Amino acid sequence: MRIFGNKNKKEESASSIRKDFEYVSEETVYLDSACQTLRPQPVLDAMNEYFHKYNACGGRVKYEWGRRVDEEVSETRAKVLDFLGKSAKEYQVAFTLNTTYGLNILLHQLPVGVYKQVITSEVEHNSVFLPTIIAAKRLNIPRKILSRAEDGSLIYEKEGLTGAVVVVNATSNIDGRILQNAKTLASDVHNAGGILVVDGAQSIVGSASLLREVDFDALCFSGHKMHAPSIGVIVVKKQLIDSLDLSFVGGGMVEKLDENSFSAPLNDPFCKLEPGLQDFSGIIGLGASIDWLKTYKPEGLKQEDQKQKLADMVFEGISSLEGINILNNKPSATISFYSQDIDAHRLAAFLSQQDIMVRSGYFCCHYYLQNLKKYPPLLRVSLGLQNTEKDVKKFLEVLKKIINNVK
Ligand SMILES: Cc1ncc(COP(=O)(O)O)c(C=O)c1O
Repeated sequence: MRIFGNKNKKEESASSIRKDFEYVSEETVYLDSACQTLRPQPVLDAMNEYFHKYNACGGRVKYEWGRRVDEEVSETRAKVLDFLGKSAKEYQVAFTLNTTYGLNILLHQLPVGVYKQVITSEVEHNSVFLPTIIAAKRLNIPRKILSRAEDGSLIYEKEGLTGAVVVVNATSNIDGRILQNAKTLASDVHNAGGILVVDGAQSIVGSASLLREVDFDALCFSGHKMHAPSIGVIVVKKQLIDSLDLSFVGGGMVEKLDENSFSAPLNDPFCKLEPGLQDFSGIIGLGASIDWLKTYKPEGLKQEDQKQKLADMVFEGISSLEGINILNNKPSATISFYSQDIDAHRLAAFLSQQDIMVRSGYFCCHYYLQNLKKYPPLLRVSLGLQNTEKDVKKFLEVLKKIINNVK
């Protein structure tokens, strides 16, 4: 653990942000939280406690360790619902590998003959874009790609939503734009006999308030983007689970079995979504991350305010450099840009030499960035709750030097 000593007051206050991330040196500038967030110490402690004290399987065993796992798992399900302001009467929480897996497992089990079309948008991660291609083919229905407005709203006509499976992100991993019209969209989709499946990967930290307002049928997100372990979460209406086919089968779901057939407990809400043994330490760590997110105040500020302050600094700093094109129309915790003078991958490698980690490329949004907009590879800065003003200043200083040197 790093010991902080001999610091002046200003530095101490900056360090207090890092109090739950003391394992990261202060010189390290991690700016890739849209991919994977850093895990605070209480999350690591909760996972270690599982490994050290009750490393058992859940849902199957009768001994004490297993009983504790069952308790913790159901507590985490309740914490997820509470975090999203959803009721256990209406929604079920299931665990999986990540957002990608959650979306696939849902779309893959939608019944044939019920829906009339699949709708997605142009500004989607490949985790939405690709599974919607497969789903439309499997269900033998058309697939439509809609545009997003500058403010992130989905542009649609109500009449065009009939029987649609709408799968869209609530926050973009390119520029943080938000699905502003999510609430209306949900009600329009329902009125047209469809369902709304939300990719909440980038919303779960930062725009969870939007998710709370939306009557989605299913929401998929990743623990690793909310300072939790690498795990996926599906929050889904019970009604939708009941309508799903059963396609992923295996351990933990056999009622009766003979040589060529079996029956599964289809009334068990987890049967269709959690085949096999789960990542119990991950689930427990997720519960700890929700507790942490509820109370963590970087520099005594609200998390959104702290992130916004840093986002403004990044946006302003990058905008002041010559030959830079920023994709964002306003500051957000995720900012993407490119330099006209230096390739983004080289820029990322130069920044890395100074212990600054940013992302370069197309961030798995190839359709929008590469096919549609024809951008060169981009650089993306994404802020996490461990970031400080000092991080941003260092990033901007080094970036400026590199850019000036290549001119
Ligand atoms: C908007 C968005 N959707 C989906 C995903 C896929 O998440 P995962 O790789 O955790 O499945 C990401 C990952 O970056 C993302 O940013």
